[in-house]
Amino acid sequence: MSKISMETIISLCKRRGFIFQGSELYGGLQGIYDFGPLGVELKNNLKQAWWRDIVHARDDVEGLDSSILTHKQTLKQSGHVDTFSDPMVDCRSCKQRMRADHIKDKKCMFCGSTDLTEPRDFNLMFETHYGPIQSDEHVAYLRPETAQGIFTNFKNVMDATSRKLPFGIAQIGKAFRNEITPRNFIFRVREFEQMELEFFVHPSQDDNWHQYWVKNRLDWWVNQGIHPDHLKLEEQKGDELSHYSKATTDILYEFPHGFEELEGIANRTDYDLGSHTKQQSELNITANVKENAASTQRLAIKSPQDPQPLVPYVIEPSAGLERGVLAILVDAYQEETLDDGQKRVFLKIKPALAPIKAAVIPLAKNKAEIVELAQSIKQKLQKIGLGRIKYEDTGNIGKAYRRHDEIGTPICITVDFESIESSEPSVTIRYRDSREQKRILIEDLINQFGQLIGLNN
Ligand code: GAP
Repeated sequence: MSKISMETIISLCKRRGFIFQGSELYGGLQGIYDFGPLGVELKNNLKQAWWRDIVHARDDVEGLDSSILTHKQTLKQSGHVDTFSDPMVDCRSCKQRMRADHIKDKKCMFCGSTDLTEPRDFNLMFETHYGPIQSDEHVAYLRPETAQGIFTNFKNVMDATSRKLPFGIAQIGKAFRNEITPRNFIFRVREFEQMELEFFVHPSQDDNWHQYWVKNRLDWWVNQGIHPDHLKLEEQKGDELSHYSKATTDILYEFPHGFEELEGIANRTDYDLGSHTKQQSELNITANVKENAASTQRLAIKSPQDPQPLVPYVIEPSAGLERGVLAILVDAYQEETLDDGQKRVFLKIKPALAPIKAAVIPLAKNKAEIVELAQSIKQKLQKIGLGRIKYEDTGNIGKAYRRHDEIGTPICITVDFESIESSEPSVTIRYRDSREQKRILIEDLINQFGQLIGLNN
């Protein structure tokens, strides 16, 4: 088990403005969270890191941003309408509902009663209607995974980019699941974001590419600053596999409530493209696709080594953004006891992910020249464009350090009397992790800013 309790993380998130309960003003909506000023920065930084490494740094991946509202036939063909459900039981004593596979010893997880109903399937999709008529004909769903928008745009992207196998389509976006028992803060929620890549390969190459992506994704999380000992791989057993998967390897992180899934890397075979393909009978589709699609397209491609058009296999690394944010926060959380016996909390977060890159603190806020200089340094650093810079003139310097340690700001910059008096103006910078301080010329601070905050590490 992780050494930090979930309560500690929840309290930090609320106090400092990372994450708030959704609709808190009206008693809250269970399993829904809002991201505050620091949370949105951290979330965006993590998304950017993913997009940079999965799309920009590669030659074989295109990006996509498909819609959330999804045609019901898409989700019928994908198997979600019929099979995307969890077994649910009701407690006859306290009337609470829970997932059958989450309860132990056949006891209610809320009141301990053993008077439970038999398990029933509960579909997790959020249903809505489009247009002014609320009939069955106008049903649409909020997508339960971003993946289907990629499959249904497969041909559009292929045609527009002239891609050949292997290649991928990546997407970051919201997904919605009406989870029976959302819990563990932002770990299991009803509205969340996914970072998904659908990587299309020749069917004969699927196992190699699966292994490649498992390793790539594990290394990526380590590269985001997560300690390798807090991550492990786990292969899903046959009865755990989703209806579309031939094999799935999960990357588990040691959350405060134990090792749990952070990302899954699935071999979805030709299940989805096959399901969305018109006239499947003409093609050699290997997955167990149930019925012919009502789609207008044939999602098969010509490949030089095959006489017949083929439906590619797909390897899918799929990560939850909220789980990523939680893992980053838990892993970065540090406590130490200082020489004077005081406890110091700091977030040892990778500088690229840090919500605030630096704080500029005027040592005397009544001295106009110090304030002006501090403001101008803040403006110059902001212009460099590496992220948020905070001008900090509330409270004393000790308080400012404490606040910025706790939110993971890599350096604090202090402007003092020496800064305005010297012919070679300088400031003090203090490092978050070591608390070391050094004097640096303002010119050097501006020129070497990225390096100074450790952005290259
Ligand atoms: N397209 C494949 C797919 O959706 P999944 O294992 O159901 O597979 C992928 O979800 C990832 O999305 C998970 O590894 C997890 O990080 C995240 N995720 C799934 N359900 C979630 C929920 N209710 N709350 C937060 N994250 C969730």
